[in-house]
Amino acid sequence: MNLLSKRVLSIEASATSGTAVKAKNLKAKGVDVISFSQGEPDFKTPPYICEAAKQAIDAGNYFSYPPTGGYLDLRTAIAQKYVSENKVPYKTENIVVTNGAKQALSNVMLSILNPGDEVLIFAPFWVSYLAQVKLAGAKPIIIKGAPENDFKVGIQQIKDAISTKTKAIVFSSPCNPTGLVYNKQELEALAELVSNYPNLLVIADEIYEHINYTPHRISFAALPEMFNRTITINGFSKCYAMTGWRVGYLAAPTWLSKEVIKLQGHLTSSNSSIAQRAAFSAINNGLDAVNEMVQEYQKRRDLVYAKLNAIAGIEVNLPSGAFYIFPNISKYYGTWYKGQQINNSIEMCTYLLEIAHIAVVPGAAFGEDACVRISYASPEDDLLEGLKRLKKALGDLEKQKILNLN
Ligand SMILES: Cc1ncc(COP(=O)(O)O)c(C=O)c1O
Repeated sequence: MNLLSKRVLSIEASATSGTAVKAKNLKAKGVDVISFSQGEPDFKTPPYICEAAKQAIDAGNYFSYPPTGGYLDLRTAIAQKYVSENKVPYKTENIVVTNGAKQALSNVMLSILNPGDEVLIFAPFWVSYLAQVKLAGAKPIIIKGAPENDFKVGIQQIKDAISTKTKAIVFSSPCNPTGLVYNKQELEALAELVSNYPNLLVIADEIYEHINYTPHRISFAALPEMFNRTITINGFSKCYAMTGWRVGYLAAPTWLSKEVIKLQGHLTSSNSSIAQRAAFSAINNGLDAVNEMVQEYQKRRDLVYAKLNAIAGIEVNLPSGAFYIFPNISKYYGTWYKGQQINNSIEMCTYLLEIAHIAVVPGAAFGEDACVRISYASPEDDLLEGLKRLKKALGDLEKQKILNLN
């Protein structure tokens, strides 16, 4: 007898964490693995943020349960950021502070979805959208972006996928895993489409907001008529190098934010008091430290893109944001190593880990089996060494001369 719920059995373990664990296990055995699998900055949290956390501990005033939706001053600071920086008129009551953006997303899915509802997910997608939609009892409908258009999804594709059951659309921009950034015209076209469907919501995942190498910085909720139709997801993990602190948030119309707070009251109460004090310092002290990290990511992006582009069998788009690159390595499918054929991204990643000792994440986990995801949030030396290994490993496959790379 299986004692597990159908709910939990309907989802897979997170592929990004899974690959990171495999890499760590190999490392523990003494293998010199270079990991490009984890989606987190290699930088340390800036000192002024850490200092605020230390002060909060020393003050001794932050040892009790915080309010369920987050400290009021933090929620207000986030709302004010949206007013001044993103031109979205959020108020304190629109903001809910959560345990990472991940919980913000699952809170939203659980608060808006019913069994039978459909959610349109733009692919390649961030791994957890699929699981979160399923856990909420709804049905994910995947819309595949075209590689020749930077993996962007077209308006006609979305129109074609909308049914009477469609409740929401979810996507990230800047995107994990492709790094694509939707521009103003593209977002406006989406907003226009959404305005024709009064019961359709947009979950705009803007967690890589500041890691954007383009001038296109639009919050979806800022577009005409979209304030009441948008749930904005954001957090401190990526831009402030604070993944471990677990502070995320959502911004939503009050009819939803108050229900999310009710839900969160039963699930987690709130997130860590000390981490929220750190986040308060992060949001109140400007973007200099963030911009420094972003400049470094951009340099690495250029380096990694150039190196990948120089490998004959790889096709790759130049990412516009986030810290991932998503090369198509499918020309190497059909080759062999140690008596095994490499037929998909999972087998390719196993080959790369076992033979070249580099950890990258199979594109299959993001809805695109032709690709692998490389996180370039790693020091330049590791990137250079890892890419050298990648080139050699793919070159070894190429020597089998069964490939036609042109
Ligand atoms: C697109 C996207 N959304 C949300 C998250 C979750 O972020 P957090 O660490 O704040 O939970 C991630 C983390 O990888 C992400 O890439």
